[in-house]
Amino acid sequence: MTHDHHSHGRVTLGGKLSAVLVAAGSSVGLGNIWRFPYIAGDNGGGAFLVIYIACVLLLGLPLMLAEFSVGRAARCNAVGAYRALNPKWSLLGYNGVLAAFLILGFYFVVSGWTAEYMVHSITGEFAHYTSAAEYQGAFERFITHPWRPLLYTVLFALATHAIIALGVQKGIERSAKLLMPLLFFVLIALSIHSLLMPGGGEGLRFLFRPDFSKVTPSTILVALGQAFFSLSIGLGTMVTYASYFKPDTNLRHTALNVTILDTLVAVLAGVVIFPAVFSVGIEPSSGPSLVFITLPSVFNGMPLSMVWSSVFFLLLVVAALTSTISLHEVVTAYLHEEWHLSRRAAAWATTAGTTALATLASLSVGVLNGWKIFGLNLFDALDYLTANIMLPIGGLLTCIFVGWVLDRQTLRDQITNHGTLPFRIYRVLIVLLRYFCPAILLLVFLDNLGIF
Ligand code: PHE
Repeated sequence: MTHDHHSHGRVTLGGKLSAVLVAAGSSVGLGNIWRFPYIAGDNGGGAFLVIYIACVLLLGLPLMLAEFSVGRAARCNAVGAYRALNPKWSLLGYNGVLAAFLILGFYFVVSGWTAEYMVHSITGEFAHYTSAAEYQGAFERFITHPWRPLLYTVLFALATHAIIALGVQKGIERSAKLLMPLLFFVLIALSIHSLLMPGGGEGLRFLFRPDFSKVTPSTILVALGQAFFSLSIGLGTMVTYASYFKPDTNLRHTALNVTILDTLVAVLAGVVIFPAVFSVGIEPSSGPSLVFITLPSVFNGMPLSMVWSSVFFLLLVVAALTSTISLHEVVTAYLHEEWHLSRRAAAWATTAGTTALATLASLSVGVLNGWKIFGLNLFDALDYLTANIMLPIGGLLTCIFVGWVLDRQTLRDQITNHGTLPFRIYRVLIVLLRYFCPAILLLVFLDNLGIF
């Protein structure tokens, strides 16, 4: 293996908790707080939750462990890592770097909206509206405004850039140690507030009562897609982050903790949102606009509405930021190590490229809405291409690579830290990675292409 030029003197994360916090920072994002609640709401509440947790444990966890192993074995960026382990497989790394770039193209846009909503909550601007229809109008006016969403998108990209530019330890690690506890604190405060709301019990019943009549075969596929996106799997994000893990980091515990935290945040986000929605008698089926239209009008009816709505959007901003950092790092590490740019130049190139793409994506839901790619505007096309095509392919190939191609000893060494940790479930992991996960992923992929 000829990857030594990357591994000598590579920075590693410091503290014991850092691996968990940094990886959880990537996982916990808009996927948990914005996407999970409405997807669960549309797909049978508690019934969806059961299926989702099965997907997380049977596919998410093994794949996260696989990506961690690849990253720490090779100790370099996603492209270099797959190439170092098997030269033919660098393509899998390219898929990841490209997907991270494209995801940032729309993720920065939604992140910008959350930042704008936070600012408007703080200034009290939202308090002027009274009906949900007015909030809808306000949302549409904002996202189609010729320059305001661009301003927030660019600011968000610059904030991400600033942290990446500080480096792995001073930027990524330190921000995760600060932002993740803040995120949990805010989430727990909001959950308690929501649980104490009159009439909130109905919302909890909606979230937790399994309604199996809404479950169809495609529910499993929806749950799986959600699990992957939420856990940041299939794109080389976890490969890149694990390349900074220490030799004595316990990969199994890290993967398990990240998975549990990510799922906990998704469930708590449901606990925050549904009681609030039900307490004012609004239907929970408003889809993606739940967070941007329904919720502000819910907050508005509550005492101290400005405070709760500001805090809620702060939560979204923080969650989004730790995820954009991880996506940015995938591209930056690649440009830095493969193209031999300085880290500074690599970070600027990434910021410039992703901001340009995000600007077009933002305009594509507004003034440029006429431009269509296969019938979708650029924003939706980026979402569709990454989540429904590149991500399942990345996951599928990762299973095949780690299950069939990667040298067994390398995997075993990573998971047991060269034999110093016991590994009782090794056989289970191999069976999942070799047969179970690829079979299920193939089904998801074919379904997404509309074959069924
Ligand atoms: N997991 C993040 C979320 O839930 C999104 C993400 C996907 C981040 C892939 C990095 C890689 O919002």
